[in-house]
Amino acid sequence: MISSVQTVAVNILVTAGPTREPIDPVRYIGNRSSGKMGYEIAAAFAREGNTVLLVSGPTSLDVPDGVDFLPVETADEMYGAVASHIGRMQVAVFAAAVADYKPSMAAKEKIKKSANTLALELVRTPDILGSCRSRHGFSGTLVGFAAETENLIANAREKLTRKQCDLIIANDVSMPGIGFESDQNEVSLVYPDRIDQLPLASKHDLAHQLVRAILMLHAEKNAVND
Ligand code: CTP
Repeated sequence: MISSVQTVAVNILVTAGPTREPIDPVRYIGNRSSGKMGYEIAAAFAREGNTVLLVSGPTSLDVPDGVDFLPVETADEMYGAVASHIGRMQVAVFAAAVADYKPSMAAKEKIKKSANTLALELVRTPDILGSCRSRHGFSGTLVGFAAETENLIANAREKLTRKQCDLIIANDVSMPGIGFESDQNEVSLVYPDRIDQLPLASKHDLAHQLVRAILMLHAEKNAVND
């Protein structure tokens, strides 16, 4: 059993915030992610003395102290930023709410209203987290989120396996007062061999607990691989 978590600074990548997928020059497909959880996690890793790169979609938050910042807008841009930097990372935490689909073409000019209905064709965006092991050969500690409205643990387990993660942080976004846009969150940590349920806490306090759990997992993984 490992009692002390940290000995040396770890290179850590965190994704956060929503992505925006342009429809035309003034409109986009977005989502309700505030980015708070990811920013708190990046800040907590930096406070523990690690080297942190925060790749973030558009939010209204300040960049945390001591964190390198790479702003992006679309899922494709976030994919490119992660692909460029994942090679030198030891831990990667994917807290971003990435759009799963984008318009197949963004109109060059503002779309004017005419007919009563307007159909948008959407195409899949890249699975950024899902590409880390399979495309980029990432062998470090890989952590994803699962924001679900039903079958929380089963869906989180499925993502853990499909995206080859070491840990999925699962939260039920159908519960009022937690998750998206809230200052509080309540999550379950879904590991391949166990589940730890954490009590409701502020995102600030929860980030500290998550960072301790992730660094512990990283230390255990390295101890096994040594
Ligand atoms: N994720 C990602 N790239 C995507 C979609 C998701 O990196 N294009 C990451 C998220 O940051 C999160 C995890 O994958 O860490 C799970 O995201 P989620 O949207 O819940 O999973 P999906 O694979 O999109 O599955 P579904 O929407 O079908 O539940």
